[in-house]
Formats: sequence, structure tokens, C-alpha cells
Amino acid sequence: MFVPGLIERKRDGGALAPEEWGELIAAYQAGTVPDYQMAALLMAVFLRGMTRPETAALLDAMVASGRCLDFAGLGLPVVDKHSTGGVGDKVSLVLAPLAAACGLAVPMMSGRGLGHTGGTLDKLESIPGFRTGLTLDETLAQIARIGVAMIGQTPEIAPVDKRLYAMRDVTATVECIPLIACSIMSKKLAEGLDGLVLDVKQGSGAFITDPAKSLELAQAMIALGEDRGCPTVALLTAMDRPLGRACGNALETEEAIMALRGEGPEDLREETVALAVEMLLLGGQTRGRTDGGARKAAHEKRRTDAPTHPQPASAARAAAERRVREALSSGKAAEKFQQMVEAQGGNPAVLEDPSVLPQALEVEVYYAPKGGTVLRVEPRTIGRAVVEMGGGRTKSDDDVDPTVGFVITARPGQKVHASEALASIFAKDPAGIALGKRALDAAIQIGQGTVEMLPLIAARVTARGVEKLA
Ligand code: URA
Repeated sequence: MFVPGLIERKRDGGALAPEEWGELIAAYQAGTVPDYQMAALLMAVFLRGMTRPETAALLDAMVASGRCLDFAGLGLPVVDKHSTGGVGDKVSLVLAPLAAACGLAVPMMSGRGLGHTGGTLDKLESIPGFRTGLTLDETLAQIARIGVAMIGQTPEIAPVDKRLYAMRDVTATVECIPLIACSIMSKKLAEGLDGLVLDVKQGSGAFITDPAKSLELAQAMIALGEDRGCPTVALLTAMDRPLGRACGNALETEEAIMALRGEGPEDLREETVALAVEMLLLGGQTRGRTDGGARKAAHEKRRTDAPTHPQPASAARAAAERRVREALSSGKAAEKFQQMVEAQGGNPAVLEDPSVLPQALEVEVYYAPKGGTVLRVEPRTIGRAVVEMGGGRTKSDDDVDPTVGFVITARPGQKVHASEALASIFAKDPAGIALGKRALDAAIQIGQGTVEMLPLIAARVTARGVEKLA
């Protein structure tokens, strides 16, 4: 293989053949293609894009670089969710146990905070003792026992993605739709899923802020999933304000626990329910409780070419929603969360007593500097402030302070008067409180005029097209 020729072809707008991608990635993994050649190729891809067959070939090579989970014989539909990341996005902590309580197997592999966005692993690790570094064998055993595990990317899963991602991070080639799609989908497809739901964020707090580009990313990931036999659905959701009220690791974990107990902010609950419904529809779990045998039979039926849902689509959707809401109100989802925390070494008392979570040394209330309408609560400013206060990383080996962050009760559209309490700031010292205040001054915009907000769930995207929901 003559790598400079491949780089030249890509640089000049040509395409590599699928076999060339396969060979190249295998050689890169074996160490015979050096990082500088891969960096040059990534930049050529960034500038020229990739065709659909090229993207599929790169994805296959990335998946093949590691091990895949195999749930054959489990007797449960295996479905996961991936979020493109945002501020205050603690949905996974509620959704994974909720979907498992509804009869799905959920092998949720998540990431750490990236840039201004928080990460599920950092939130879970705020629970004293919680271990996210399970091996794949431990993960498989836990899923067979309780239906859910929430873990980090193990060295066995798509190892080439880890290397490519680290290189993209330092060569200004992260924001490239085919590379992002391959990176995310390589990890998800290695989970051996029967279905995948994507939560693609839109707005200034999202990783990709341009709405047209977030739709393009959703469609690229859906195409890859469907082409590889994994039915994939995306919801486009709002990230022009933080989701829920809490931003910061332990604060978000506490809010997720409130949601599991049927309390907590409505936007968090409604978005989680919508994603859970999609997961159940993909898993065919739209009826009431079934025993293991019936579930297995339903799964086998779904695996053959039988119609996915014997019920009309709207009835299946309504049944799935009833099931999800019942799992929340009955406490089954909370119980599943507790089982998972215990199985992964965390303190299960956290469910009844969130004060076992680490607590900030300094807490201060933030008051409205003037009266008017809250026009914006800008999420990127909030996310960056959490990082600067110590709740995220600026270098990959930074420690994260789980206690810091905000609870923001002010919502866009709300009328407020001067000196009304709008938020609480949690910090490790007075300097952190001052930083938090400055961030809230900038993020919470108060004035007169109309408030423009993205709908919480703007659209449902499938291989068949885009269904606007608002
Ligand atoms: N998350 C990933 O896993 N990969 C990307 O490329 C971007 C976000």
C-alpha cells in the first residue's frame, strides 16, 4: 500500500476504495502507517468529505479493530441511546435503568466531558464507589443479571477510534461529519445492538451548533446503522438552554435521581420519556409485562422478517409510553438504578439519600440584577464555567471536582423582578463563586421582547425521512 498516493487522491477530491480503507486502518493499528500520514489523510477527509461507501468502509474497519459484544441467547432486545452531548444533559442516568425496567437490555457505553459538554461517566463517578471501568466480561455478566450496565469505552472496543479521536483532537479535524459519525457508530455497533436511538442536540450548547449540520450528522449515523443491520432513529432536541436545572456532575446526578423518583424538571422527564419510547419501539417492547419466555419469542419473531409491530404504529407508541410512565411512577426504574449502582460498587443509599453525594464547600444564591423577561439562558457559557470551576477538564489527565456547578431555576420566557433568586452557585472556594456569578451575569439575559426557543423535541429522523414534531 502506497499511503502518499492515497493521501494525494483524497486531497484532490477522489475516493478511496473500501478495501483501501480496510487495509489502511489495519496497517495503522499494526503500527506500519505512522501518525503523520494518518493526520494528513484526516485533514484531506476534513476538507473533501467522504462518500457513503467510504464512510461505511471506515466504520467497518474501526469496528473490526476491536471486539464486539455478543448477546445471543440473552433473550432480550439490546438497545442503547447515544447523545451528541450538551449542558445539563443527564438523560442517560435516568434512561438506561428506565429502559431496562421496561424489558430491554441496555449496554450503555458513555464518555467523559468533552469541551464545554458534560460526560455521563463523570456524573456516575460522583456516586461514592461507582465503577465505570468494567471489563467486557463483567459487563456481559451484569447485563445478563440485571439488564443494564453503564460503562466507559473499554480498550477492547474500537481501539482505533480512540487513537484517531486523540489525533483529530490535536489536528483540528474533530468537526467533520463522516469522521464523527464513524467514531460514534463504531463504538455503538460494537455493542451488538438490535436498535439505537440518537439524541442529536441543536443550539448554542450543542457540540455542532448549526441545525442543518446536526440533521446531516443524524442522517449520516442513521445510514451507517441501517446499512449495518442496526435500526437507528434520531430525535433532534433543544440545546439552546441547559436541560433541566442542574449543571455539574454531582448536582446532575441528584437531579437524575429526582427524575427517577418521578420528580424533577419537566423538560428532563419529557425528553427521557420520548427517548425511552423510541427505544421500546425499536426493541419491540410495547406491550405490558411479559415473562422471559414471551420476551424471547417476541425477540426471535422480530429477528425474522415478521412485521416489527403487530399493532398499528400509533397504538404501539401509546402502549410504549404507558409502559415507560408506569416504570417511573411505580418506582421500578428507580429500583433498577439502585441495583445498577450496587452492582457497580456504588453506594446504593444514594437513591433514598442523595446527600451521600459529595457536597460543595461554598454555596451562594444568584439574584436577578434587574427585572424583566428572561430572554436566554445560554448553555455554552454555563458549560464552560462548570469546566473552569473545576467540574470538567482542560487537560486529559485533570481531576474533576464533582461538587461544583449550578442549579438554575430561571427559564427562558419567565418574568422576573429585580433581586429574585434565579440560581444557586456551588463552588470549592470564593473565587469559584465569583467566577460562577460572572458566568450567570453573561448567560442569563434579562430584558424586554420576545423569547425565541427551540422546541424541546423538534423532529424524529429515520431512514425514511424527517418527521417534524413541533
Ligand atoms: N463523540 C465521539 O465519540 N466521537 C466524535 O468524533 C465526536 C463526539
